[in-house]
Amino acid sequence: MRDRRARAAARLAALLAACGVLAQEPRAQPANAPQPIPPAPAGALAFVPPDRNAIPDTPLGTMIRFGRDVFVDTQRYAKGYVGNAMNCVNCHLDDGRQAGAAPLWAAYVAYPAFSARDERVTTFGQRLEQCFRYSMNGRMPPADSAIVLGLVSYAYWLATGAPVGAHLAGRGYPPVAQPALAPDAMRGADVYRLHCAACHGVEGQGVKSGSSYAFPPLWGPGGYNAGAGMHRVPTAAAFIKANMPLGQGGTLTDQQAWDVAAYVNAQPRPKTPN
Ligand code: HEC
Ligand code: HEC
Repeated sequence: MRDRRARAAARLAALLAACGVLAQEPRAQPANAPQPIPPAPAGALAFVPPDRNAIPDTPLGTMIRFGRDVFVDTQRYAKGYVGNAMNCVNCHLDDGRQAGAAPLWAAYVAYPAFSARDERVTTFGQRLEQCFRYSMNGRMPPADSAIVLGLVSYAYWLATGAPVGAHLAGRGYPPVAQPALAPDAMRGADVYRLHCAACHGVEGQGVKSGSSYAFPPLWGPGGYNAGAGMHRVPTAAAFIKANMPLGQGGTLTDQQAWDVAAYVNAQPRPKTPN
């Protein structure tokens, strides 16, 4: 019975492939795969967050500052909710201010939004859970904790003056064109050795300075887990193309960015939590 059904499914797949239907579908994603942020529409509004020293000296300002501390030194200020060696700022560069590195100001005004991964509408605060669970390999702090209030307050402040609901230019990562050749981890290993290993280590384990990391790990127990957005090769390729090597974003070719993303994501890392 099962055999017959499997054979029928295979026949149907072959038929659809012959019609070119499946050829357009990329590799099937599991239902709870992270959803990439849609690219900004043409003519999206440009936005500059407030000066970093302009946080007000008010009770709200104290909460905003605490949120920034959590974001930059998550290991210390959200200890117990982080299961790897990462800080939020390792991926959301320049304290979450950097356009093209999923900046917090562009995110803040884009919620509530439907999450295909969660199959529900989520608020900005609830969106943090995905990064705590997968990128940080940890767990979500309570919604009314100072950690969550601080992070939400910090993002709110960064978005000062931005229109609610706008898709701001610089949200997420700029899309990187499909490569001419299918992404290849073997070629990616060469890119890694030449352009990445000096900072992230030959074994991708990062480089420590004292008890904290000067350069974060890319894989191994200290890295993001297999359920993270960065574990999607297209997402990693887009982040890397725009932002790596640090300070030299845009210098790799599209092909190099895809290949090194395939290489990094072929390495061992913590499993997706159930
Ligand atoms: C390993 C890298 C990584 C780390 C660490 C990380 N994130 Fe993320 N984050 C991502 C990726 C990837 C996305 C989705 C970007 C995309 O798909 O374009 C994202 C998306 C987000 C978004 C939604 C952005 C938007 O525009 O909708 C928020 C908010 C966010 N992260 C907050 C955090 C916070 C807070 C932390 C720390 C607790 C954190 N992230 C840690 C990689 C990371
Ligand atoms: C000059 C040093 C340097 C080089 C070279 C460099 N990186 Fe990074 N990279 C960093 C630093 C530092 C961060 C964290 C930024 C922060 O915390 O502000 C980072 C963050 C990352 C992240 C997100 C955080 C994580 O650990 O997962 C990825 C992915 C990444 N780099 C990939 C690469 C790849 C691929 C290359 C080679 C093409 C590369 N980097 C080259 C310094 C570097």
